Amino acid sequence: MPNQKPISHTTLILFLSQLILINVAQVTSKSTIEPCSNSDSCNALLGYTLYTDLKVSEVASLFQIDPISLLTANSIDISYPDVEHHILPSRLFLKIPISCSCVDGIRKSISTHYKIRPSDSLSFIADSVYGGLVSDDQLKEANSITDPSVLDVGQSLVVPLPCTCFNGSDNSLPAIYLSYVVKQVDSLAAIAARYFTTLTDLMNVNALGSSAIADGDILAIPIPACASNFPRYASDYGLLVPNGSYAITAGHCVQCSCGPRNLNLYCMPASLAVSCSSMQCKNINLMLGNVTVQQTGGGCNVTSCNYDGIANGTIITTLSPTLQPRCPGPQEFPDLIAPPTTITRESIFAPAPAPQSHGSGVTTPKSSVVPSTGSFPGFSPANGPNSGIASGASAACSSANPLPATLACALLLLLVNLMLPEAL
Ligand SMILES: *[C@@H]1O[C@H](CO)[C@@H](O)[C@H](O)[C@H]1NC(C)=O
Ligand SMILES: *[C@@H]1O[C@H](CO)[C@@H](O)[C@H](O)[C@H]1NC(C)=O
Ligand SMILES: *[C@@H]1O[C@H](CO)[C@@H](O)[C@H](O)[C@H]1NC(C)=O
Ligand SMILES: *[C@@H]1O[C@H](CO)[C@@H](O)[C@H](O)[C@H]1NC(C)=O
Ligand SMILES: *[C@@H]1O[C@H](CO)[C@@H](O)[C@H](O)[C@H]1NC(C)=O
Repeated sequence: MPNQKPISHTTLILFLSQLILINVAQVTSKSTIEPCSNSDSCNALLGYTLYTDLKVSEVASLFQIDPISLLTANSIDISYPDVEHHILPSRLFLKIPISCSCVDGIRKSISTHYKIRPSDSLSFIADSVYGGLVSDDQLKEANSITDPSVLDVGQSLVVPLPCTCFNGSDNSLPAIYLSYVVKQVDSLAAIAARYFTTLTDLMNVNALGSSAIADGDILAIPIPACASNFPRYASDYGLLVPNGSYAITAGHCVQCSCGPRNLNLYCMPASLAVSCSSMQCKNINLMLGNVTVQQTGGGCNVTSCNYDGIANGTIITTLSPTLQPRCPGPQEFPDLIAPPTTITRESIFAPAPAPQSHGSGVTTPKSSVVPSTGSFPGFSPANGPNSGIASGASAACSSANPLPATLACALLLLLVNLMLPEAL
């Protein structure tokens, strides 16, 4: 009889689960991919969690974006003193505005580069610096790296980042898409609630056959947006502002955002507006963004001075008189926040509202009414005609598999792994 100590049951189980973890991590990280054919780019958002304390300007340079656009995307007041040098705390969740292009037939962002620093590894850059928005394999492939153990300090890497546009709409309403890296604690239902959408909508957009999601998956989350109706000759024609963000336009003179209670675009002079053309409506003592209300017999006479784009350096204003059944509340522009210095429960997910605002009755389950015609959940998403889930997985364990199949696949690999030592 062998004097070998038999492997205890628990060890084996531990060993098993470790192998499963390894294999699942390699095989099942999925991300929603949108095929594309034209060369138009569109605006998209990345959901990014800070891996360490970083200044606003440092986060902006990590993604090569304008610090102002980073601040406005997160409703942070740009007039806060020295805001670009403000230090944002580790683990803060931010929305990063990026331009989404069409590359090799799929939507992605390729405008980000990263300069390798001493003691960097591909997995540190992928998982920590870019918060799981890219994988080390994708970095390897995009930069034709043959030996990841030898990285040249100072070398610039292309960092391909996931994004989707789906024609800037969700269920025929304007929307901008956020690429969100699923965390271990997340459930699809909780994500839907947090972003004021429904489970059905998220499943349709991401072509999910079930609500099962895994740590590291990348979901496309539609953020309702407020569309402008500027004339075509305006240089900011087509301005679209996602809810929870604001935009600075007209040469830093005007700021626009969704109203706090509706999805109408509301614009007013920017806090830092200097040397701007007149922002007063013609022949009336109203400035851009001003509203007068007057109770009349037939309802409320609301007159507002609205922004209508900028053309030839001139701010276009229009006066709009409307008769409404009830007078609107006073404040229209949502509050801007000071740059965060500490992590609160909400700021881990978004510097936006806490998830407990369920009972407010504001959320409209728009998509639950519209199951895309005759479609089978998981096959034809409501938005893109051909969107689908895919992964960088090996061919053997096909990425298109739903989770159970992929698990089976992992188990198969596991069995092979287990049998090998025995065969020796
Ligand atoms: C894209 O959206 C525009 C309106 O924003 C609409 O007119 C057009 O039909 C949409 N295209 C597709 C392919 O859905
Ligand atoms: C827009 O965001 C506000 C909070 O920032 C939220 O209360 C509201 O429900 C959101 N609207 C939609 C349509 O998602
Ligand atoms: C008009 O708008 C200006 C600039 O936003 C503001 O300072 C002023 O208080 C507003 N006036 C009225 C009557 O709303
Ligand atoms: C509404 O108010 C505007 C200006 O405040 C005025 O010119 C207009 O006649 C009013 N309309 C009605 C129907 O009262
Ligand atoms: C802007 O200027 C150009 C010429 O400089 C002129 O042709 C055009 O009509 C102007 N547009 C508007 C909206 O004023």
